[in-house]
This record gives sequence, structure tokens and C-alpha cells, in this order.
Amino acid sequence: MQAVSAGIAPALVGGPRHVAVIMDGNGRWARARGFPRTYGHQQGRKALRRLVEASLQRGIAELSVYAFSSENWARPAAEVAVLMRLLQAALGEEVDDLARQGVRLRFIGRRDRLPEGLMRAMRQAEAQTAQVTALGARLTLNVALDYGGRQELVAAARHMAEQVAAGALSPAQIDEDRLTAALMLADAPDLLIRTGGEHRLSNFLPWQLVYAELYFTDCLWPDFDAAELEAALHWYSSRERRYGRTSEQIKQQHA
Ligand code: FPP
Repeated sequence: MQAVSAGIAPALVGGPRHVAVIMDGNGRWARARGFPRTYGHQQGRKALRRLVEASLQRGIAELSVYAFSSENWARPAAEVAVLMRLLQAALGEEVDDLARQGVRLRFIGRRDRLPEGLMRAMRQAEAQTAQVTALGARLTLNVALDYGGRQELVAAARHMAEQVAAGALSPAQIDEDRLTAALMLADAPDLLIRTGGEHRLSNFLPWQLVYAELYFTDCLWPDFDAAELEAALHWYSSRERRYGRTSEQIKQQHA
């Protein structure tokens, strides 16, 4: 498994370098307006485009968004089909612009259960935007598709067990760094934003988010815009990230 490495654009001083987003509330947004849930996903796609623009403006180096979870296969087949088509269309229509803007696209999650056309579009998008890396990516956009955090950890454990069985690794060599490197996303987000009013992680990046600041908003995803991002960043700037140390130690370090 290939780990997605840290983004390379300059970080906003004092702001989060890496932001993860659970884009929740599309269905409720649409139903509240008398539209089918799938219309909410279409509007959700636009909100994601706005988030990319706003992140570029704010100098965020890496974004990780939850587009389709391992558990989302349990939704009605028609809704799943619309989501898959929407993702494929979005890639076809947006990748040229994203590449021009210096956005590098990566995907995390299982690849073997997605429609062939979508997998082709994903490979093409990764290959096309990989060239951005050579020129200096401004933003790395990791899209989690058929992604589950527990499944990712199981796959990493299996990968290391296979290395041990092959004599390439000893159990004593297994540590946090090695496990992190065996994941699909190695870089830890600084801030998680979840829209839609729920206060849970829903199997999104459980290992990577252990030290993230968690921001929950009632805003439904299709309504998310630059002002909502600003509110989240403002809240983040008021947090003290102690990593187990005391507040006094942190203040001394910054004195
Ligand atoms: C959660 O809302 C949203 C999803 C399961 C899909 C997220 C997908 C998008 C935002 C479209 C993304 C497009 C691209 C191109 C990546 P929900 O349906 O669970 O809403 P609800 O909680 O109101 O039912």
C-alpha cells in the first residue's frame, strides 16, 4: 500500500496545514427543499469546489475529504449509482482546472469495488495531477472513496504480518512510524471539520485524527462556503495544542 505523503505547499502561519472534512448533510439539505437526496449531492459537489478555492486562498497545504465510506454501500442502489456517476463526472470536468491551479489529487480507500469507469477516471486524475508535484503543488486533495478507517488499519496490520512472515520485518520493529507508513494516508490532519450537526468520526481516519482539533457545525454541507471555513479556522486559532504537555509548558515554549 502506498502512503500519501505530506503536502509541500507552504503552511499558513498559525493555521492548520492539513484539514480533514466530513461533508455531511446533503440529503437533509435537499429534502428540506423538496428535492431528491441526490440533488443535495450535486450541490455538495459545488461546495467541495468552493472549499478547494477557499483553501488555496488561505494557504492550506492539504485537504482530506470523505466522499464515500465503506458503509455507504448500504444506501439505496440508485443513490449509490448517482454518487458514483457524480464523482466520475466531477473528475472529468474539474481535473484540468485543478491541475492548472496547482492541486494534486490523491485517492484513499479500496479500489476494487468501484465502477470501472470511475477507477479509470481516478487513475487518470492522479497521473495528470502528479505532474503538479514536480512544479510544486499548492494543495494536495485526498479524496476518501470506499474508505473505512478500521479497514485501513486491518490492511496495514495484514501488510506488516506478511512482512514478518517473509522475514523482512521483526515484531520488535513494529512501531508507530512503521504502522503510519503502512496506511493509505500517512499525514495527520490538524483540524477536522464535520458539517451536518453530528458529533462523530464515522470511521474516518481514526489513527490519523488522534491529535486533531475537532470542529462540528450544524451547517449542512451544500451551504458550506468560505465564510464557514473562516469560522472553523478562527475557532482553530483559539485552540491550544498541548500533545500531553501542560498549558504552562506551551506558554514557556512560545515566550
Ligand atoms: C453525506 O451527506 C454525504 C455523502 C455521503 C457524500 C459526499 C459527497 C459529496 C459532497 C459529493 C462529492 C463530490 C465529489 C466530486 C467528491 P448525507 O447524504 O449523509 O446527508 P444526510 O446526513 O443529510 O442524509
